[in-house]
Amino acid sequence: MKKFCLLLGAAAFAMASHALPANAAGPIVIKFSHVVANDTPKGKGALKFKELAEKYTNGKVKVEVYPNSTLYKDKEEIEALQLGSVQMLAPSTAKFAPLGVKEFEALDLPWLFKDDATYAAAMKGPIGKWLFEKLKKKGITGLAYWDNGFHMVSANRPLIHPSDFQGLKFRISGSKIADRYFRVLGAIPQIMAFSEVYQALQTGVVDGCENTPSNYYTQKFHEVQKHITVSNHAHLQYAVIVNSKFWNGLPPDIRKQLEKAMDDATDYTNSIARQENVDALAKIKASGKTTLHYLTDAEKVEWQKAMRPTYKWAKSRVGQPILDLLAKELHIQM
Ligand code: LMR
Repeated sequence: MKKFCLLLGAAAFAMASHALPANAAGPIVIKFSHVVANDTPKGKGALKFKELAEKYTNGKVKVEVYPNSTLYKDKEEIEALQLGSVQMLAPSTAKFAPLGVKEFEALDLPWLFKDDATYAAAMKGPIGKWLFEKLKKKGITGLAYWDNGFHMVSANRPLIHPSDFQGLKFRISGSKIADRYFRVLGAIPQIMAFSEVYQALQTGVVDGCENTPSNYYTQKFHEVQKHITVSNHAHLQYAVIVNSKFWNGLPPDIRKQLEKAMDDATDYTNSIARQENVDALAKIKASGKTTLHYLTDAEKVEWQKAMRPTYKWAKSRVGQPILDLLAKELHIQM
């Protein structure tokens, strides 16, 4: 109750301050909250947006970036956006079900995107647009998709064959599709806020996790996981989102400048994501604190077969339309 009142208070304050015209009341403040380190593709993207937004609006907008869950953790930040106490987020699309759009979870299907280029084309095209339309109906405007590459998976024992997952507890970020693909491997998935993962791995609350190299490296997950498989079994992407009421209430010239800042920050983020992850993986390797494993083609096929039942199950979670659209755009069978 106390937390709710605090949030409501913050929301009322945020709304009041944004109702004021930019010049009379000082700059329009955009609080941009996220859960990863500054030194990651998303962290750098948020800082680039800040730089460009403040430049293009001649200081009429001030962007305050709060990285590393310093303002809100995963679940709280979504509530805060709906209440208006934060203006901009870039959650992983695996965390969108609480917004009422489970369809985003289809992007978590294992082995869905063949490579980086296939992913990028899909999100720029009809798939990305279709998902943003769904969001609009919930009072949220999607501004951009930011890339963070493919997931690796880790534990304190080597994960080479599907049977190696049996009985292990894995931290997942929120998607029921990820929940399902771990379950079909015989593992026990558990949703947990990103900020709590390091400690949970360290103390054995969970045995393993999945994430991208940049997140492993900056959160030091590799220091508390003896084995990492560079599996690329699923993709991690973000949607930059704003509360539609806030966004549509901005003076049109300012909104336009912010859209340009977002477009440029998006090009920048998506252009560095791949290399950031290559560099992070090299640093993980150089640290000597974990053993990296790569799957052979035959092992990859074993994983694909073992995880395949996720696709049939997905229909009841994300619905047929998004599965049909993915099948059509990616030229794959569902
Ligand atoms: C996670 O929770 O694992 C990721 O979504 C964190 C992030 O934002 O990259």
